Amino acid sequence: MKITIPPLPSSSRTNDEGHLEVAGCDVVALASEFGTPLIIYDEEQIREHCRTYLQSFRARTDDFEIAYASKAFTCLAMCQLLAEEDMSLDVASGGELYTALKAWFPPEKIYMHGNANNTEELARGIRSEVGHIVADSMDEILALNRIAVKNSRRQPVMIRVTPGVEAHTHDFIKTGKQDSKFGIGIADDRAFSAVALAMEQENLELVGLHMHIGSQIFDLEPYSQALAVMADFMARCQQELGFDCRVLDAGGGLGASYLSGDQPAGIDSFAEVVVGGTRREMERVGLPVPHIVVEPGRSIVANAGLTVYTVETVKEIPGIRTYVAVSGGMSDNMRPMLYGARYEALLANRATEQDAGTYTIAGKHCESGDILVKEAQLPEPQPGDLLVTPATGAYGYSMSSNYNGQPRPAVLFVKKGAARVIIRRESYEDLVHLHERLE
Ligand code: LLP
Repeated sequence: MKITIPPLPSSSRTNDEGHLEVAGCDVVALASEFGTPLIIYDEEQIREHCRTYLQSFRARTDDFEIAYASKAFTCLAMCQLLAEEDMSLDVASGGELYTALKAWFPPEKIYMHGNANNTEELARGIRSEVGHIVADSMDEILALNRIAVKNSRRQPVMIRVTPGVEAHTHDFIKTGKQDSKFGIGIADDRAFSAVALAMEQENLELVGLHMHIGSQIFDLEPYSQALAVMADFMARCQQELGFDCRVLDAGGGLGASYLSGDQPAGIDSFAEVVVGGTRREMERVGLPVPHIVVEPGRSIVANAGLTVYTVETVKEIPGIRTYVAVSGGMSDNMRPMLYGARYEALLANRATEQDAGTYTIAGKHCESGDILVKEAQLPEPQPGDLLVTPATGAYGYSMSSNYNGQPRPAVLFVKKGAARVIIRRESYEDLVHLHERLE
């Protein structure tokens, strides 16, 4: 039977045994083979999201790139998949760059970001000939030039500016407003000075501007406002500095669906707002339409992924609540603790049973706040049941930790009834791998 919980991958269904199945794989069988916590991605769903982005933009312009934001989830297999799908890539550190290059991701399709990349990280970017480095500060512009000179390379760069627009999302993931650690403000002329500074640098080729207004955005109106600010800024830089902005990167941020009632705007609407908005604004200020780049992360992987846990204990506090404690928690999903993010839950081994009540899903960590789902509707859970939280494909594994000595989960790609380990489960040996003994 097809399952209609929207946050789950669209291939999800229940089978004759009443188990949850994803892309033809029985989740109960996967948990028994690979253990829990287990992160499962429907590979085709990720590819489909990439293709929807490419098609939605291609329908409106032939001069664009979709640069997947590695920070949402990355590993060698993911980078290989992205290369196969003809995507570009956003990396935000030396480590994400290293991962991409290890997977033979084409460096010319990489956009390198970061607000505090060190000399070694920037040098790695320049020496690997990444397509674009997005400078986030005056200091970085100067550092990039010094490194480019040293390496006898003329590096294409962009500047991340803050348009001063408020996106309607959680405070911690708003980034385009005036008071932000990211980017350089347009309103107070610092961005203008940054453009002038970058243009003066002998070994930098300033090709464009970048903005990123926030993440998990449902209402797309702030993009239109931000594009208008960018267009005015581009026109001023053109007139006063002779700067031709050939590339405009509108960042990521499109929301994903975490709860059954969530209705994110959708990829096609996002494409319309970004491409249509850029066209309209360029016409208004009399500039040519630049090469358009966007950097989606969450909207590509969040709903393609889910996490499976084992129910370890069930503790009823009479008249208050029932805690259902599972085999993972804040170490594999920081989002509930960090942002108060909400998730739903279901039992993979009893997926067709009626809900019996409301339960609180607790993680296994030594923190009272380690609660994955405050109120989950479930059949009465028993130790040994397999609990699934849908929509954990973005910023789960990538923000994971070894807190309380918890090895990181295994990650699978499932497709047409077959599962492939793309990141193996950490072992206890891995936990002490870097430790040195006292003499
Ligand atoms: N581009 C830049 C420059 C970014 O900073 C980000 C996200 C993205 C693209 C991708 O945004 P997305 O399409 O995934 O929304 N850990 C938080 C999200 C932090 C996002 C940081 N930057 C969370 O779990 O909600």
